[in-house]
Amino acid sequence: MVGGRALGLTGRNPVTHLATSPMTARRAGPCKGRVSVPGDKSISHRALILGALTVGKTRISGLLEGEDVINTAKVMRALGARVERTGEGLWQIDGVGVGGFAQPCNPLDFGNSGTGCRLVIGAVAGCPITATFDGDASLRKRPMTRVLDPLERMGARTLHVAEGGRLPVSLQGARDIIPIIYEPPAASAQLKSAVLLCGLAAAGETTVVEAEATRDHTERMLRHFGAEVRVEPSGRHGRRITLVGQPELVPADVVVPADPSSAAFPLVAALIVPGSAIVIEGVMTNPLRTGLFTTLREMGADIALLNARTDGGEDVADLHVQFSALRGVEVPAPRAPTMIDEYPILAVAAAFAHGTTIMRGLKELRVKESDRLAATADMLGGNGVEVEIAGDDLIVHGRGRVGGGGMVASHMDHRIAMSALVMGLAAEKPVAVDDIGFIATSFPGFPDMMRSLGADLA
Ligand code: S3P
Repeated sequence: MVGGRALGLTGRNPVTHLATSPMTARRAGPCKGRVSVPGDKSISHRALILGALTVGKTRISGLLEGEDVINTAKVMRALGARVERTGEGLWQIDGVGVGGFAQPCNPLDFGNSGTGCRLVIGAVAGCPITATFDGDASLRKRPMTRVLDPLERMGARTLHVAEGGRLPVSLQGARDIIPIIYEPPAASAQLKSAVLLCGLAAAGETTVVEAEATRDHTERMLRHFGAEVRVEPSGRHGRRITLVGQPELVPADVVVPADPSSAAFPLVAALIVPGSAIVIEGVMTNPLRTGLFTTLREMGADIALLNARTDGGEDVADLHVQFSALRGVEVPAPRAPTMIDEYPILAVAAAFAHGTTIMRGLKELRVKESDRLAATADMLGGNGVEVEIAGDDLIVHGRGRVGGGGMVASHMDHRIAMSALVMGLAAEKPVAVDDIGFIATSFPGFPDMMRSLGADLA
C-alpha cells in the first residue's frame, strides 16, 4: 500500500496551514502543449461516500487527491469504513452498508469542503448515530440550515448548530427515516444529494423535485451501485428524482473522469494568451457541467471536443482550445447550475472580451467558499477592469485588455486564486495573489501544470 499519510490522511499540517503562500503571474509566451487535469471533485466525494455505504470492496481509479476529497476519505474511516490508497489515484473501500456508519469518536473535520460536509450530513442522518461536523474558517461561514431542514423532516435531530445556522453542527441520525417529497429552495446539487443519501435508509420512496436541474452525479452513481432511481422532467428546466429506499447496494468500480471545473483554468488561459493552442485530455462533458463551454463558444471561443467517448458512465472528450477574439454576451440565469463554479474564470474571460458580459442570477455565488460574487468583482476591479454587481447579476465591461498590477485577496477560495493567476498570464502588469494555499483543495499541482504550458508563475 502506498502511504496515505504522505497525502495528508492525518490532516493538513497546522503550521503550513497558517502560513500564507503568495504567487505572482506574469505575461509570457503562448500556452502550448497537452495536459490532463485531476479527477472530478464531485464524483470523487460521491465515490468515497457510496463506497462506504456499500458492503464489499469498491475500487476507485482517478480519484482527485486534493485536500477536500482526502478529508472525505478520512471521515469515511472515522465512520467505520476501511479506506486504502493502493496507488496514484487508486483507492479501495470496504463499506459498512446503508445505515451502518459507526459512531465517530471525534468531530468530523471537512476542512474547506461544503460538498463533503453537506453530503456526509445527509448520509449520517440516515444512521442511528450522533456526529459533530466542523470545518475551517471559510466552511464555518457557510449556511447549513438549508441541509438540516429537510433532514429533520426525515427524522434526524439537530442537537447543536452554531449561530446563524453554521458549523459546528451536531446531528442525531434517525433509526426510522421518513421518506419525503422535497422541493429544494435553491438550485443545489449538495442539498439534493444530502436528501437522497439520507433517503437510502428510508422504507419507501424519497423524491426531490428540482425547479432547475443540477449536476446529477449522485443519481448516476446510485444507479451504478444498484439503487433504483427514476428521473423525470419537471417544469421547464427541472427534474423529479425518485429513489427507492433500502436498496441492496452492490460494490462497483468507479472511474473518475477529469474535472471540467479544473479544466476551465488552462482552457481560459489558452483563450486569452495570444498564440496559444492546447489540448486538455479526457475532460468530463456531462451536460449539467458544461455551461462554461457553451457560454465561451457563444463569446467566439475556439473550443473543439475531440475523441468524444464514454468512460466510467460519463461522457468525456479531449478539449482542443486556441487563442480567440472574444465578445461580450448575456449569460441567462437558468444556465447557472451548469456552470456554478465557473463564474470567476468566466469573468476573467469576459474582461479580455470586447463588450459587456452580463451574468444573471448568481445569488448562490454568495455562499461558496467565499462570497464569490464580491470576490470576483474585487479581483477584476483591483486590476483595472470595469465591473459591477447589480442585484444578483455580475456585469463585466470587457475592453479586450486588462491592466493588471493588483494584489488579489483569495479569501480562502481556490477558484478565486486560480482565476486571478490565469488573468495575470495575459494582463499588462503582473497579477499577485495573497495566498495560493487553498488551490490544493481541488487542484494540487496547478502551478506546475500551468508552467508546463509555458505560464510564468512565481
Ligand atoms: C457540488 C455542488 C455545487 C458546487 C460544488 C460541488 C456538488 O454546490 O458549487 O462545488 O458536488 O454537489 P451547490 O450544490 O451548493 O450549488
